[in-house]
Amino acid sequence: MSEDDMSEHIMRAVTISEFGGPEVLTIEEVARPVPLPTEVLVRVHAAGVNPVDWKTREGQGMAGLQTFPLILGWDVSGVVEEVGFGVTTLAPGDEVYAMPWFPRAASAYAEYVTAPARQWARKPATLDHVHAAAVPLAALTAWQTVVDTAHVRAGQRVLITAAAGGVGHFAVQFARHLGADVIATAGAARHPWLKELGADETIDYTTTRFEDAAADVDVVIDLVGDAHDQTSTRSLKVLRPGGLLVTIPAGVSPELAQAAKAAGMHITPYLVEPDGAALTTIAGLIDAGQIAVEVEETFPLEEAGTAHARGEAGRTRGKLVLTVTD
Ligand SMILES: NC(=O)c1ccc[n+]([C@@H]2O[C@H](COP(=O)([O-])OP(=O)(O)OC[C@H]3O[C@@H](n4cnc5c(N)ncnc54)[C@H](OP(=O)(O)O)[C@@H]3O)[C@@H](O)[C@H]2O)c1
Repeated sequence: MSEDDMSEHIMRAVTISEFGGPEVLTIEEVARPVPLPTEVLVRVHAAGVNPVDWKTREGQGMAGLQTFPLILGWDVSGVVEEVGFGVTTLAPGDEVYAMPWFPRAASAYAEYVTAPARQWARKPATLDHVHAAAVPLAALTAWQTVVDTAHVRAGQRVLITAAAGGVGHFAVQFARHLGADVIATAGAARHPWLKELGADETIDYTTTRFEDAAADVDVVIDLVGDAHDQTSTRSLKVLRPGGLLVTIPAGVSPELAQAAKAAGMHITPYLVEPDGAALTTIAGLIDAGQIAVEVEETFPLEEAGTAHARGEAGRTRGKLVLTVTD
């Protein structure tokens, strides 16, 4: 086989062979995936970085579902290179974005990704690949909780914790888009921006306990969890009787379920699912100028470890994204 033929079969990817800190992320040459029938091969231009990436890297998150060597990453924006037998909805050259395969590995920190055709959607036309790669996992989480789980309606009061992060900044905008009154928790520096995104009230969690500042809330979208200052348990105090708490980081412990029941509140855990159709709807809202996408910083693929360390510090405004190819 000539060197050119060889290079068609290999790609660069960030792999891990053991769980650990950012240093376990190493760039390697690996076999390029081949699309099976109904799958699409995409040349990755940018890959979004999410907390589940570093949680899985260190042996938590979705770690129990993976095998080594593992290529992390779920968010992709890129261009269709090849389609498998039977695919009629996409063709080579189409610009697409997705959060495929979750919770199985999608292996997005790489030059090529394959996934079922219908887990992809056409990338928002008004976004470049970097901004499109910031959308899928975070926006699907916000959409599937605010719209599909809580069925938020106009006039409801919705409290969103960690509103300035990846999921939060989409959740604020989706809830506002549906006509809800949105209360957002974030450090004070993020308040003017969150108001621009549609938050009606902002609470600085570093100086004020949100249960002292908010009440009669219909829905809490909790992106912080009980691991930090009992945030989920404290969320029960702001809900109106019969209100709904969606706990996003770490499920619902038996104690929390019991506390919700005793308080007369509804509570549910949640895990994001691939959804090409929802990504098409979200792309439409973005292209109509209804939803903004915030990318705080980009890193080349080789610097995935630096991106993880930045994200793990917990202060990201919007999203971090890896650039893979031009
Ligand atoms: N279940 C699922 O399917 C699912 C899906 C997506 C995400 N998640 C989980 O949801 C959580 C949020 O994800 P993400 O992507 O939005 O994270 P992220 O972007 O890394 O969140 C960073 C933001 O969190 C804010 N923050 C940190 N501690 C806070 C606190 N105590 N109160 C209010 N804001 C606080 C920071 O605001 P300041 O800088 O102002 O402090 C920062 O803007 C993670 O634990 C993630 O693993 C779960």
